[in-house]
Amino acid sequence: MFELPKTICEITGAQTCQLGDVIQSLWSGYGVIQRVKLDLPNRSTAIVKHIDLTESRKNRRGWSGDVSHQRKVRSYEIEKTFYDSYSQKCTGLGNRNVVGGRDHEFACRVPQILAALEKPGSSGWLIVLEDLDEAGFDLRSSSPQRSDDSNLRSCLRWLANFHATFMGCKPTGLWDVGTYWHLATRQEEWQGMEDGQLKRLSSAIDERLNAAQFQTLVHGDAKLANFCFGSTNSNCNDGPDVAAVDFQYIGGGCGMKDVAYLVSSCLDGSESETQQNVLLDFYFDQLEKSLAVKQPEIDFPSLESEWRELYAFAWADFCRFLAGWSPGHWKLNKYNDQVTRNVLNQLAGDKIQRRGDGFTAE
Ligand SMILES: Nc1ncnc2c1ncn2[C@@H]1O[C@H](COP(=O)(O)OP(=O)(O)O)[C@@H](O)[C@H]1O
Ligand SMILES: [Mg+2]
Repeated sequence: MFELPKTICEITGAQTCQLGDVIQSLWSGYGVIQRVKLDLPNRSTAIVKHIDLTESRKNRRGWSGDVSHQRKVRSYEIEKTFYDSYSQKCTGLGNRNVVGGRDHEFACRVPQILAALEKPGSSGWLIVLEDLDEAGFDLRSSSPQRSDDSNLRSCLRWLANFHATFMGCKPTGLWDVGTYWHLATRQEEWQGMEDGQLKRLSSAIDERLNAAQFQTLVHGDAKLANFCFGSTNSNCNDGPDVAAVDFQYIGGGCGMKDVAYLVSSCLDGSESETQQNVLLDFYFDQLEKSLAVKQPEIDFPSLESEWRELYAFAWADFCRFLAGWSPGHWKLNKYNDQVTRNVLNQLAGDKIQRRGDGFTAE
């Protein structure tokens, strides 16, 4: 019989483990995220993400053929792979001499993984993580639409450092193409879209993003709620220290997808429009500094010009998902409608041009 506290002791080496508050139930009865008390050196708590597929089976009919179920199961498997095999790269360069000792200025903080376990018979996973609250990241941005500017900057800096860390990295064991709204994994929503140019050109938008010369790993669900903030600012940067969680949709891609989606999670249409250039300048400035330390061989001017152009495509790609999943969603606004229209006009123009060159695009 699977006993949670006992299993947690076995895999972490703790002598005692007491279950604490449930932080959140996982989607559709897939388990819980819970704080636990344990007695490890330098640690008195941890966070357990307990995915229990037997519970989800009870709650769902026809679960095994269900696309969203399969996507969810894969997403937990991928989150575990990220923590097991990639997360160690996020903590900085491990080299105190870099740039005058400001090693963690370029880190993209994530919780340390303490232990993980695949439960017998593929019935779920147990991921035991460092408690970010205990590590000083105990603040959350509770009113997403009224986020203060400095939190957004911290998240942009985190994204720039994360994208720099994984620039050119193959997403082995992760989603080939990251984000929870990626077209190939959202065919049901695509079918549900009203017929029109956005539906017809969905693949062209996706292909354009996938064809980017500069690819990195994208977080894939980088909304404000998936960041944990500290009350400190250890590098005297713009904005507080920050760490990110929730790596279920990490995979390959152009970093602009994370940036557009982050902005959509905290700014309304008119703010997204007026702040667009300032925010992109801030992101690219940090990306350049971070790459100069982590991957100086990258041709940054080419990267920046390619990705700036793809920012609009990233918005259009996300709007395509919203239009199929939840038409009339509050995130669809005049700003991103205009951005999407421009992208569609550009793609339609490219097709006419290509036909003129002797290619048949459709
Ligand atoms: N290691 C952690 N330390 C502290 N808080 C955490 C940790 N992991 C998750 N949380 C909190 O729990 C919330 C839900 O976790 P998350 O992994 O995003 O689950 P879900 O997939 O259900 O969104 C997060 O938004 C964060 O506030
Ligand atoms: Mg989350």
